[in-house]
Formats: sequence, structure tokens, C-alpha cells
Amino acid sequence: MRLDRALSLAGYSRSEARAMIARGRVCVGDAAARSAGMDVRPEDVRLDGESLDYETEVYLMMNKPAGVVTATEDKSLPTVVSLLPERYQRRRLGPVGRLDRDVTGLVLLTTDGQLAHRLISPKWKAEKRYRATCEGTLTDGDVRAFADGVALSDFTARPAGMEILAAGETSVADVTLTEGKFHQVKRMFAAIGHPLISLQRLQIGCVELDETLAPGAFRRLTAAEIEGLRRMTDLFEGERT
Ligand code: URA
Repeated sequence: MRLDRALSLAGYSRSEARAMIARGRVCVGDAAARSAGMDVRPEDVRLDGESLDYETEVYLMMNKPAGVVTATEDKSLPTVVSLLPERYQRRRLGPVGRLDRDVTGLVLLTTDGQLAHRLISPKWKAEKRYRATCEGTLTDGDVRAFADGVALSDFTARPAGMEILAAGETSVADVTLTEGKFHQVKRMFAAIGHPLISLQRLQIGCVELDETLAPGAFRRLTAAEIEGLRRMTDLFEGERT
């Protein structure tokens, strides 16, 4: 197949392909590509040293920094998608659910709309674990309040897990929810009299935030992580063991 055809299958127009080849960004095997018309096997093509994503779905995790919006675009602020390199931006990845601008930690981004939908749908009850730092001393009574379901002005939250990690003038706890309404964790802590100081998401279902990722960094999910997410949302079509 022609090299520009292979690049177009990965989302690049013919003129973009020519410009990338001219700048030496495209290799075929170990050698720099010579022309847009050269004959290639798509699996041998590399752009900036990486193989191209053709039609397969892409699954990433990002360690979202504070100040970044969980959206594909925003008029004035950086978004989780704008932090990705161009080759991922053109794959039209979308974030799975939202974190508030000041909340940090695990965000999944994928082209797989069906999986994304199920991970945020209350029906599949995907667990999300957060590390919360709040004002005041958390007690066993607060753990019970979360387990019973905190009453908010417009709804009662589903029972949630709370594990207190430190309790003093400020406290730290891991909380686990199976729903994700607007500002939910902040509202639940405010409702039990412990306003949040900071919030970080650590886990979605079986996928934990990779601690080696600096704020703003991302990596592809492993095959095991993708399979785990697909199993928990009844989308796994491989061999059942
Ligand atoms: N709960 C919140 O209050 N904010 C988030 O971003 C996520 C959960």
C-alpha cells in the first residue's frame, strides 16, 4: 500500500502526510520514509518513533493535574485532551466521566464510547475510589453516615465506603462510590460537617492510578486493565475462564 494511504488510515490527510515525511517524522522499518508514494506494509510505519493506531480502539489513563478541565475542548483552560500529543488528539479520544477542575488523579480517555458509557452509568455500579483530605476529625460515626447513604438537598447518596487513614485537625480518608453526580464527594463531606481540602481519584473499577505518572502524564492501559474494565461492564468477548 502507498505510504500516504497508510497514514490516511491513521487519520492524516495526504498533505499532512507529505509534510510529516518532508520533516523526517515518518520511518518505514528503520529507515526514514522517502516519499508519500512508496510501497509499505502499514505495520512497518512509525510516526515520531511510534507505530500508528489504525482502526483499533485506544485506551489511556492520565494523572490529571489541578487547573485542567476534564473535557475535549475549552475556550480558555487546558483540557485533558489538549495535554495529549497530536497523534492521540486526532483519534478523538473522550474522557470517561468528569473530575472537577481542582480535583486531581485518574482520568480514563478512550475512543470506545460503549465502554465509557457503561463506566459512568449508575447501572453498572463501577466503583470509583478517591483520596480525600478534609477539615476536622473524621470518626467512626462519619464512616457509618457514608455507609448509610448521606442525604443531600436533592437526593440521598448511595451507600459509600470510607476508610479513615489519618484523623486530626485535618483528616485523610479513602472513599469509594458507585455513582458520580455533580460535586458528589465534596457535597457528601460538606453534609457531614467536614469540608474538603483536596480530592484525588485513585481508582476506577479494576484500574488504579499509576503512581509513576507525573501530573499531566499519561500511558496506555495494559491489555489486562482493558479486559478487566470490559469484564466488569459485560463487554468482554474473549475466552471465559
Ligand atoms: N466528586 C467531586 O466532588 N468532584 C469530583 O471531581 C469527583 C467526585
